[in-house]
Amino acid sequence: MQHTFAMLTITIVLTALGSCKPQAPTLEDLPLVPMPKEVEMGKGAFTLDAQTTIASSPNNPEVEGVATYLSSILTPSTGFGLKRAENQEESNVISLSIDTTITGNEGAYHLAVSKGKIEISAPDAIGLFYGVQTLRQLLPPEIEARSLQENVVWSAPAVVINDEPRFQYRGLHLDVGRHFFPLSFIKKYIDLLAVHKMNKFHWHLTEDQGWRLEIKKYPRLQEIASQRDETLIGHGGVKPFKYDGKPYGGYYTQEEAREIVKYAADRFITVIPEIELPGHALAALAAYPEMGCTGGPYQVGQRWGVFEDIYCAGQDKTFGFLENILLEVMDIFPGEYIHIGGDEAPKARWEECPRCQARMKKEGLKDEHELQSYFIKRIEQFLNQHGRKIIGWDEILEGGLAPEATVMSWRGIDGGIAAAKMGHDVIMTPNSHAYLDHYQNDPKVEPLAIGGFLTLEKVYHYNPVPDSFSKEEAAHILGFQGNVWTEYMKTSDYVEYMTYPRACAVAEVGWSTEVNKDFDNFLVRMEKHYKQLDQLDVNYFYAIPKPIASEEQIGFTESATITLKAPLPNCQIRYTTDGSDPNASSELYSQPIEVTQTMQIKAVTVKENGDYSAPAIIEAERLSYMEPLTGARPGTKGLAFGYYPGFFNSVTELIGQTPSEEGTVTNRFIPDIADAKAFGLSLSGLLEATKDGLYRFYLTSDDGSILYLNDKVIIDNDGLHTKNTETGTVALKRGFYPITILFSEGGGGYNLELKLDQPGGATIEMTPENFHLNTK
Ligand code: ACM
Ligand code: ZN
Repeated sequence: MQHTFAMLTITIVLTALGSCKPQAPTLEDLPLVPMPKEVEMGKGAFTLDAQTTIASSPNNPEVEGVATYLSSILTPSTGFGLKRAENQEESNVISLSIDTTITGNEGAYHLAVSKGKIEISAPDAIGLFYGVQTLRQLLPPEIEARSLQENVVWSAPAVVINDEPRFQYRGLHLDVGRHFFPLSFIKKYIDLLAVHKMNKFHWHLTEDQGWRLEIKKYPRLQEIASQRDETLIGHGGVKPFKYDGKPYGGYYTQEEAREIVKYAADRFITVIPEIELPGHALAALAAYPEMGCTGGPYQVGQRWGVFEDIYCAGQDKTFGFLENILLEVMDIFPGEYIHIGGDEAPKARWEECPRCQARMKKEGLKDEHELQSYFIKRIEQFLNQHGRKIIGWDEILEGGLAPEATVMSWRGIDGGIAAAKMGHDVIMTPNSHAYLDHYQNDPKVEPLAIGGFLTLEKVYHYNPVPDSFSKEEAAHILGFQGNVWTEYMKTSDYVEYMTYPRACAVAEVGWSTEVNKDFDNFLVRMEKHYKQLDQLDVNYFYAIPKPIASEEQIGFTESATITLKAPLPNCQIRYTTDGSDPNASSELYSQPIEVTQTMQIKAVTVKENGDYSAPAIIEAERLSYMEPLTGARPGTKGLAFGYYPGFFNSVTELIGQTPSEEGTVTNRFIPDIADAKAFGLSLSGLLEATKDGLYRFYLTSDDGSILYLNDKVIIDNDGLHTKNTETGTVALKRGFYPITILFSEGGGGYNLELKLDQPGGATIEMTPENFHLNTK
C-alpha cells in the first residue's frame, strides 16, 4: 500500500492544554476520535440548512448506501430534507465522490469543509463511510439526537483532512455467553464501533455458561445449552459459592444473527463469530453429553472460571458435530474469519480418556498439547476447505500451530511475537492493555469486576507492534482489539460503562499513527467527544482528571511557587490550604501559589456544570538548614558496611546488632560477600554538600531501606516489598554530613539505588564513590 499522506504529516501543537479560557479554534477543539492522520484548520465554517443538498457519484449502490446513511444521521435532528443535488458543482452541498487517485490503507478518505461545500472523496465506499463519521463529529453533538433540535446552528468548521487507518483490524469483542444481551444492544454496540471507525465485531457466542446461537441441526443447543438453572452471586474467586436460584438464558435465532451481519456490513464492519473449542464447551456438553470424554451428565455452567469437561478429541463424531455446527455458522457469517477459541482447555479428561489416548497413539502425538494441536488443525483444515480462515487464542501455539491460523495474543504479547516470527498473522489483545473487564478506577468505589486494573491512559499508550520487530514481522500484526468479558456485567448499561471510554482509546490505537498519538491531546478531544456519546446515550465511565501540579512534594527554605495546570479546557481549578477537601466553591486558582510555610494544598478540577475531580494533593514543607559536622575528617572515597545474614521484617531490627562482617564498598552498595538468601546491610560514611541549598534524594529498594542524615530519618522505604522509590528533600549548608543507609533483603531478588538532585539542578546516580569514609 502506498502512503501518500506520510510526507505531509503535520505536527499537533497543544496550545489549549492547561488553559481554561476560550480561545480561537485549534486542532484539539475538533472532537475527532480517533485522531485523523492529517488535519489542517481553515477559516470559517459550513452551515447546514434546509436548502443543503447531498450529491453522490458515481451512481452505484454502495455510494448510494453511504449517502442514505449520511441523511439518516443528519435528518432527524435537523429536520432538513437534504434533497439529492443534480451535480457536484452546486454550492451548499455535501458531496460524496469516488476518487481512485486517493491511495492509502483501506478506509482512506479526504474531507474538505469550506464555507460553501463539504467534499468527501475516497477510492471506495468504505473511505466515504469513514469520511461521514468524521463529518458527524465535526457537527454539533446534537446532530446525534433522534428528534428535532431547535435553535442549533448546524456548523462544521472549515478544515481539510487526509486520513487513513494505521491497522486493517480494529476490533471490539463482546462475550454474550456469560450474560446475554438483546439484539437492539448488539446493534447499538455496532453503531458505536462505526462511530469510532472500528471494523471488526468479535462476537463470542458460546461459553460454558451458555450457547447463544441457534443451530438448526442440534435443537438441544437452544433448548438446553442456552439456559442455566442459576448464577453465582458475588466474585467467582471467593468461596463458599452462593447462587441466585434464578434460571437465566437466551440465544439469537439464525435470522437475528443474519440481521446483525447485515447491520454490521452496512457499516463496513465484519462480524467474527467465535465458536469455542475444545474447551469452554460445558453448555454444549450439557446438551450433547456424548461429545465429552466421560459422557456426562453435564450441567450448563453456573459459576465463572475454567471447567475440566471439554470436547472429546478421541472420537470422530465430535468432529462431525462441530463441522455440522460450523457449516451453519459459515452460512450465517460470510466473513473470511471464524474464531475457534482454543483457550483454557484443561487436559485432565483427555489424560484419562481411552479414546483420546488411542488417538494420540495412532497419530503419534507425544502429549495432550499435541492432541489439542491435532484438534485445531483438523478444524482448520475443514474451514480452509470451505474457503475460511481460523483465528484462535494464543494457546493454539502449544503443541504446534495450525498452518494458516491467525493468533489472538491475550496472555500478554509473547504468543503474538512468537506467531509473527513464524510468519503467522496476529491480532494483539493482551490482557495487560486490552481487557476492558478489568477495573478502570479504584475497586473500592467501583461495581464488582473480575479484577485487574486498566486505565484509559494505559490502553491509549499501547503500541501493537513490538519495538524489536522488523518491517516484515510488523506486517503480520493485523491490529488491535478490546475484549469485553461479561461474567460480572449483567446489564447492557454496565457493559457500556466498562467499554467506554476505553474503547475510544482502543479505536485510536488501531486507527491513528504513533506520531499523532498524544494522551493529553486525546483527553481534550474526549471532553468534546463525551458530548457525542451523551447524545448517543452511552453510559460511559467518567472521571474528571485531577489538576497537574508542578511538583507534588516540595521542600523549600524561604518560599516556593506551586504551579497547577488544568487537565481540561473550560474548567477551573479550586483549592484549599487547610487540609480540608476542596469543592466547586473553594478558592479559585488564578496564578501560581506562593508558599512560605509548611502546608498541604489540595486542588480539584471543576467543570462548567460544577462537577469536580478527586483532589490532587501537594505537600509543601518548609525546611530549616541542617548543620554540617564540625571538625569532620573525611577519609578515602567509599562507604563502610556491616553485613547481617538473616531475615529482617524491618531494617530497624538491625540497630544494635553485631554484624557478621564489616568492610568497605566502593563501586557497589551491596558487598560481594552478601550471598545469604536473606540479609541486612548497613552503609555509613560522609556526604559532602558542596554548596548551600536543597538536596533531594531518591531511594529505590527491593526490599526495605531507610536513609538517615545527621541521625535523622530522611527517607523511609522500609518493609518487605518489591522495587519501590521514595524521595526526601533536605536543606544543607556546605560541609560534611554523616549518612547511614539501612537495607534488608527478604529473599527473591534485591535492588538498592540512590539518586540525588543537587542545588542548581544536576542529578547524580550515587555509588559509594560519591561518599567518604568517616574516620572520626
Ligand atoms: C481468554 O481471555 N480466555 C481468551
Ligand atoms: Zn476423550
